[in-house]
Amino acid sequence: MSNIVLIGMMGSGKSTLSHLLSKKTGFKVIDCDSEIEKNEGMSIASIFDTYGESHFRALEKSYLESLSCDSCIVSTGGGMILQEENVMALMGIGHIFYLSGSVDTLVARLMTQTDDRPLLDESSLRSQIESLLSEREMLYLSSADDVVEIDDKSPSELVSEIYTILSEIDYNFSG
Ligand code: S3P
Repeated sequence: MSNIVLIGMMGSGKSTLSHLLSKKTGFKVIDCDSEIEKNEGMSIASIFDTYGESHFRALEKSYLESLSCDSCIVSTGGGMILQEENVMALMGIGHIFYLSGSVDTLVARLMTQTDDRPLLDESSLRSQIESLLSEREMLYLSSADDVVEIDDKSPSELVSEIYTILSEIDYNFSG
């Protein structure tokens, strides 16, 4: 299946880039978190509050198991790669890009966006990002087909970079 999969930390721009890539390729966007919210009729923050993180991780896994799409941009939640089965599933459905950002970049972007992110709070944002990134960086790197550095780049530069990489590997944009 020829999907384009975006992985990376909260604040790495997966959602924004997925919509720009959709415009460029004509592929449909699948935002895993939004789909889970629709299925459950609750926000991600409420799912964490009411049922806890492990329940959310189970929902992420079963959503991915049920996912059947071709020629889509799949935007994942930052923790999607924490379960090995999820990584295997993502590897099976398309080309995986890791949007890699420094702690400074992620903190700057997330500063005003902690309310709907249950794993973060504004007062200790930097240490939370440092600790999540150090736990996850190896997983992101080992899951990805390509790593795209996001620091100091605009969304349109990043879209061009991703599109160039896909063109260079003769990616089949017609599905
Ligand atoms: C999470 C990232 C969030 C969301 C949930 C958990 C994480 O998605 O899935 O709050 O563990 O990094 P975004 O990366 O889109 O913010």
